[in-house]
Order: sequence, then C-alpha cells, then structure tokens
Amino acid sequence: MLELKNVSYQVNKRTIIDSINFKLNKGDTVAIVGPSGSGKSTFLRLIDNLISPTSGKIYFEGKDYEDIQPEQLRKEISYLLQESDLFDHTIGENLAFPAEVRNDSFDKKRAKKLLKAVGLGHYDFNTDVRPLSGGERQRITIARQLMYTPKILLLDEATSALDTQNSEKIEKLIFELAKQDVAILWITHSNDQSMRYFKKRIRLVDGKIESEEDLS
Ligand SMILES: Nc1ncnc2c1ncn2[C@@H]1O[C@H](COP(=O)(O)OP(=O)(O)O)[C@@H](O)[C@H]1O
Ligand SMILES: [Mg+2]
Repeated sequence: MLELKNVSYQVNKRTIIDSINFKLNKGDTVAIVGPSGSGKSTFLRLIDNLISPTSGKIYFEGKDYEDIQPEQLRKEISYLLQESDLFDHTIGENLAFPAEVRNDSFDKKRAKKLLKAVGLGHYDFNTDVRPLSGGERQRITIARQLMYTPKILLLDEATSALDTQNSEKIEKLIFELAKQDVAILWITHSNDQSMRYFKKRIRLVDGKIESEEDLS
C-alpha cells in the first residue's frame, strides 16, 4: 500500500533521512524506535506529505506522491502528534470538524462512541475544552482523528502523556483499526508493554533503518 524507495531528506547539507527503503501493507502494525534525533518524526512527516524527500520516491497504492492530490493523501493518511491540537471551542465542534472539511454531515453517533472509547463518555458535546487537562485534550484529539477511518495511521508517541489506564484504552482502540486493515506506524518506546501488539519493529539510527524485526 505504501512504499518508500531510496528516500533521503537533507536540510542544509545535513542528511536527516538516509536512503530509506520501506514497505507497508494493509493492516500492518509497525513500531518505530530509535534514539532521540534519529529521524523518527521526520520519517512520519515524509509519509504524511508534510515535507517532500530531497531524493527518492514515495508511492501510495502504486502511485507517486507527486501525482496525487495533497487533499487526497490527507484523507487517506492520518497523523497523530504527541501533543493535543484542539481549537478552543467545545468538544462537539472539535469532533464535527473532520466532517466540516469534507462537506459531510456530522455523525454524532460515531462521535459519542469514540468519546466513550477514549474514556470521556461522561462529557457532552457542549463541554468547553479549555479547562480540560492535557491528557483529556489529547484523548479528544485522538477521537477527532478517528472520526474517519484512514488507510494509514501515523502516531508520534501519541500516548506518552497519558496514564497507563488511558494509554491502554487508546491502544485497544488503535489496534482494533488494524483488524479493519488500517496500517499503523507508531513511534513508541521499545519497553512499552504495547509492543506485544505490533507485527514488526523498525529501529532508526542516524536516519537509517538499522534493523527490521518480525515480532509475530
Ligand atoms: N526542518 C529541519 N531543519 C533542521 N533540522 C531538522 C529539521 N527537521 C529535523 N531536523 C533535525 O533532524 C534530526 C532528526 O529529527 P527528528 O526526526 O525530529 O528526530 P526524532 O523524532 O527521532 O527525535 C534532529 O537532529 C533534528 O534537529
Ligand atoms: Mg520525534
């Protein structure tokens, strides 16, 4: 479904991603580990089309990224950051946003279900997000991101700010998606207990894939 061929990314002559070859199939669950500064976030930013390779190519469903409308990619590939990224309105307005940008109607049932799945079922849509805790805001961000099921879900340490119980809830929700053929690429710590759910683990060091392990 996704393929990187000889992808490199350089900034000011410094190589941050170094000739990476990588393939991702439907329903794959891949943990990305590696030291800080090894290029993990840059790797996801390339796949999310936020930046473009300085050399090499990325293909989605056999098509070169350069030949795909950015809006199209944005619908199929979803990127969840480490920190929450809500606007200062209500929970409902945040959850309705993905429908708004698609000119679609707001699926309140799905929104309620997701809110419950992230452990916030006790809040109603009118709740102001501003006074909520960082962890609660992050969980709303995750629910918002899942209002539409992407083909590829990228996560950048998305649960690192959550307590164990809530992280487990989110992991359950995310790995359920893999059963529906969503491919998951998750930057995480190798000692996370969630590692048991991953099919594969890749280790990035100095912008290169140093190892690719099968965990299944
Ligand atoms: N746009 C940029 N300009 C300059 N340096 C960058 C840029 N993006 C990333 N870097 C550098 O590339 C390296 C890898 O960054 P990053 O992908 O964030 O690593 P990781 O997520 O593994 O910690 C870091 O040294 C970072 O400072
Ligand atoms: Mg990072």
